[in-house]
Amino acid sequence: MNAKKIIVDCDPGIDDALALMLLLRSPEVEILGITVVCGNAPTAIGAENALKILSWMDRLDIPVYAGEERPLVRDYVDAMDTHGQDGLGESFYPPVTAVRPRENAVDFLIETLQNAKTNGEKITILTLGPLTNLARVIERCPECLGGLDECFSMGGCYQSHGNCSPVAEYNYWCDPHAAKNVFHAFATLPCLSGKQIHMVGLDVTRRIVLTPNLTEYLCRLSPRTGEKIRTITRFYNDFHWTQEGVVGCVINDPLAAAYLIDRSLCSGFFAHTTVETEGVCLGQSVVDAFGFWKAPANSYVLTKTSPLRFMEMFFQRITGAPAETLTPMLRQLMGPDAEEMEGSL
Ligand code: BDR
Ligand code: CA
Repeated sequence: MNAKKIIVDCDPGIDDALALMLLLRSPEVEILGITVVCGNAPTAIGAENALKILSWMDRLDIPVYAGEERPLVRDYVDAMDTHGQDGLGESFYPPVTAVRPRENAVDFLIETLQNAKTNGEKITILTLGPLTNLARVIERCPECLGGLDECFSMGGCYQSHGNCSPVAEYNYWCDPHAAKNVFHAFATLPCLSGKQIHMVGLDVTRRIVLTPNLTEYLCRLSPRTGEKIRTITRFYNDFHWTQEGVVGCVINDPLAAAYLIDRSLCSGFFAHTTVETEGVCLGQSVVDAFGFWKAPANSYVLTKTSPLRFMEMFFQRITGAPAETLTPMLRQLMGPDAEEMEGSL
């Protein structure tokens, strides 16, 4: 199999951790490096967490690079109320000592893209956190994006409400200027002409809920990994109950990873998108679904998904169990609405 070469730009983060676990068990992708940005946790903590996940999955050969430590313009606001003081649900697993994070994530991104461009190759970028690192790449070396294949971004929302304000999703709200600049680049840079950001926003990710029953099933099938997942999601579950009245937790980032691997898991529409940087709507992704602005489509905005099909993939990859075994139990645990390619629209 010709694995897709990808860089994962993330802010681990509990659901980032689950996305990395999924990707690390997916032969369709080759992870060239993990770049970390300030988001859920400060960059240094996020980089430690990326190494912890790699060590659990026996993949410390993949380099981790620490990136930007603050948003482009606005003050940094972490999400440790959601992800815990260690960014991994206050599981406080010990740091990895065998390997340490490297510096200069933005340099790594630029060099890798530049080399790909020179060698006639293409790199896919998956962003699971604020877009600060990518915005710096665009600022410093826009032409290196000639080496970009596709860009998938977990972030934003179209018709779904926000998770940081009535209208804003955390990744774009944390660094709205970066998000705006990245979307703008996809509308204006000649080397990105005809390309769109796959915007994997709350419209679809809100439907992906890891309930206590599903976690229990994971633990039964794969005790070692399942117990890690149970430990890191406990804090997240408490947050979701208090904040959103959800039993379990919404796991946003793994859906973006899964969709990168299998495009049939979600669908949406092409549109021009920008991000508000000021005022009461700060961080809102504004999707011109009706073409008012006559501006190029710089995004493919996802609105529909099948939670059941996502969970089938997630469980298969994490536990190694075959679909025939998993599907009847997942159907039972997830209920009748899980199968539909429905959005929250
Ligand atoms: C996004 O924000 C973070 O808290 C999660 O890791 C996810 O990337 C959801 O809004
Ligand atoms: Ca994230």
